[in-house]
Amino acid sequence: MIKREQLYEGKAKKVFMTDDPELLIVSYKDDATAFNGLKKGTIVGKGVINNRMSNLLMQMLEKAGVPTHFVEELNDRETVVKKVSIVPLEVIIRNIAAGSFSKRFGVPEGVVFERPTIEFSYKNDELGDPLMNSYHALALKLATEEEIETIKRYAFKVNEELKKFWLECGVTLVDFKLEFGRLKDGTIVLADEISPDTSRLWDVKTGEKLDKDRFRRDMGGVEDAYAEVMKRLMENI
Ligand code: TMP
Ligand code: ASP
Repeated sequence: MIKREQLYEGKAKKVFMTDDPELLIVSYKDDATAFNGLKKGTIVGKGVINNRMSNLLMQMLEKAGVPTHFVEELNDRETVVKKVSIVPLEVIIRNIAAGSFSKRFGVPEGVVFERPTIEFSYKNDELGDPLMNSYHALALKLATEEEIETIKRYAFKVNEELKKFWLECGVTLVDFKLEFGRLKDGTIVLADEISPDTSRLWDVKTGEKLDKDRFRRDMGGVEDAYAEVMKRLMENI
């Protein structure tokens, strides 16, 4: 696999072309941002952890019937993925109230839902990723009705699989964000990453936060938290 010119640099990853027009290489950085890029910092070793973790979880999800963009891990920070056109929706599943849900609805963090919730945000940094419903997404032609149905089905399936797995690791899956993409033939696949950057992960026993909220909220112990969830994942995969 030959790495060609850089296509794009995002907040946490760089994307490179390859000699195959249908494949890309993503490279995970240690850069961390929050609040739409307003807060900036570094989480040392994060790129290595997120690369590994996302790849292992995506392979697990493939086995469970959720197609993903994952192709092959190249090294510590780099992975070959299928080229997709990203559906500009951030798909958020929640099992427990936290973060923007708690703020918006005035519910304390930690309230457990009877059923998981799903919400969409328009992936648009200029607008600050506004919350939207599926009718808004249809009106703006961000996805078709059929694609939205597929995305919802996959997102809830991902939740069931990840919730079960994280519990085996002694970790409560509070919420997470997914992104989906279309392959050349239109097939919807899970893309982007699944990591402590994009999930809330709490220790089952103590409730300790083991995710990016430690960075967002200046709690300290960020690197240790990432290392701890990675260690638990490796012991249980
Ligand atoms: P929220 O409570 O801030 O809406 O976040 C819900 C979940 O989505 C949480 O696990 C963190 C993740 N997330 C991202 O991955 N990217 C983002 O830009 C935001 C705002 C949240
Ligand atoms: N990474 C996102 C940003 O910079 C937000 C977050 O994860 O909190 O906006």
